[in-house]
Amino acid sequence: MPDPAPVGSAAALAALNARLEARGLTPVAPGPVDDEPRPDEPGHPEYHRQQRAAVALARWSTATPPRYQHATATDPAVIAWADAVATQPETARSLLITGTTGTGKTHQAYGVLKRIAAAGPHRYELIATTSADLYGELRPTGSAGAAEHRLRRLCEVPLLLLDDLGSAKASEWTEEITYRLINHRYNHCLPTIFTSNLPTRPSVDAQGKVTGPSLTSALGDRIVSRLAEMTTVVPMAGTDRRRTA
Ligand SMILES: Nc1ncnc2c1ncn2[C@@H]1O[C@H](COP(=O)(O)OP(=O)(O)OP(=O)(O)O)[C@@H](O)[C@H]1O
Ligand SMILES: [Mg+2]
Repeated sequence: MPDPAPVGSAAALAALNARLEARGLTPVAPGPVDDEPRPDEPGHPEYHRQQRAAVALARWSTATPPRYQHATATDPAVIAWADAVATQPETARSLLITGTTGTGKTHQAYGVLKRIAAAGPHRYELIATTSADLYGELRPTGSAGAAEHRLRRLCEVPLLLLDDLGSAKASEWTEEITYRLINHRYNHCLPTIFTSNLPTRPSVDAQGKVTGPSLTSALGDRIVSRLAEMTTVVPMAGTDRRRTA
């Protein structure tokens, strides 16, 4: 008996077709076999990206208050920052969105977190809080161990939104907590979104006299020095959207 033709060869296909025809069956058309997964099938990178995005968006929705569930990042600098974090969180800077009351800082902040989630990053864990809530939950009234544990979690979470930086009443204790949190995230290059109503630099009059509060007067120079190095500042202009809505 002659050796069978190698599997997949033209001779093997011809032999198979001859046997199919002899039984009245349709021959197999020659051509490449497409066994690559399609984008909607497991094994394709796009399928797995979409699965990660669905999980991340569910986490985003859980962490986001109802008012900002429909937030979308629209500022070009904010969008560029989101795309940098989604692709390379290790080298991305932090973001500081500044502006007066109601200009849309918190809206942009939740919108940017949603955009990162929708990109389907390999890791998506976030905590969103305001600086007043941060001090409220860390205040040493209960167990010191629980407060330290919470502070460590805030220091280490891959993505943190700290809304309204500099707006809570300052004390030595709030300055120390803020310093520990920001210094840790600065040292470990962890992407953080800050928003603040305060300008980064104090406003001064013609004589150089400071005329209003700034992040430096609220937080101290050591914290603001770190913010200057670690953040991209995005100023939001415009009027109070709450009053013009
Ligand atoms: N781009 C936008 N599109 C639609 N609504 C927006 C947009 N930006 C902000 N808003 C809405 O305007 C209102 C004020 O926005 P937001 O809370 O983000 O302001 P803010 O700058 O954080 O204010 P504050 O300084 O008081 O914290 C909210 O109701 C918000 O949902
Ligand atoms: Mg706000």
